[in-house]
Amino acid sequence: MTMTSQPTWSPVALSNVIDPSTSTGALVDGAELVVWRDSSGKAHVWEDRCPHRGMRMSFGFVRGDHLACLYHGWQYDTAGQCRHIPAHPQLEVPQTIRMQTFAAAERNGIIWAGATADADPTLLPAEIAGLVPVRSLYADCTAAKALKGLAATPLPISADAPTVEAITENYISLTAGPIRLLVAIQALGKEKIALHLMANEGAPVAALARYAQALRLTLETAPAEAA
Ligand code: FES
Repeated sequence: MTMTSQPTWSPVALSNVIDPSTSTGALVDGAELVVWRDSSGKAHVWEDRCPHRGMRMSFGFVRGDHLACLYHGWQYDTAGQCRHIPAHPQLEVPQTIRMQTFAAAERNGIIWAGATADADPTLLPAEIAGLVPVRSLYADCTAAKALKGLAATPLPISADAPTVEAITENYISLTAGPIRLLVAIQALGKEKIALHLMANEGAPVAALARYAQALRLTLETAPAEAA
């Protein structure tokens, strides 16, 4: 499984929602992924499927720098190589038993999954310091419609459309007065997205969270051509 129809990097979660030594599932354009942090806190993104019998690895558990499958306990290291099979503890595990891995990166408080294992980190959004998480939310619309709506909708405290500082097919950086808002868009499937919002420290986070909720309603009800 590859994510070649997707941009080089796709956001999969706000960084602050995944603790060290935990794992969770994520969807990118229909592809099921496991996002997990080892005990040092480093993030990893793999296909959410154990090579043994196909169990979801997001149901598994982290042991140091290994992710263990819930079903038969096979353990995989941070490179995705199987290192331990409990039923055969003495076995030197063949190199061929490995996970499909994707590049993982953290930028601007968001965990990003590469479309391939060697995705180019220079294609991540520009780094912005001093950001805090606002929230993530789901919406039933396309990324293009959401970007258009974000660019046209005034941020709290302002009556005018915000200034668009940067925009790609799944990311937008907006400013209005003292507010800077970043929104990374995760394409989940057909007309289903997750929006991950970060803002500058000192921004009215609660007001921005309400703004996002109101925007979601607009995006889901407005006809495509009017969004
Ligand atoms: S399905 Fe994962 S260890 Fe058997």
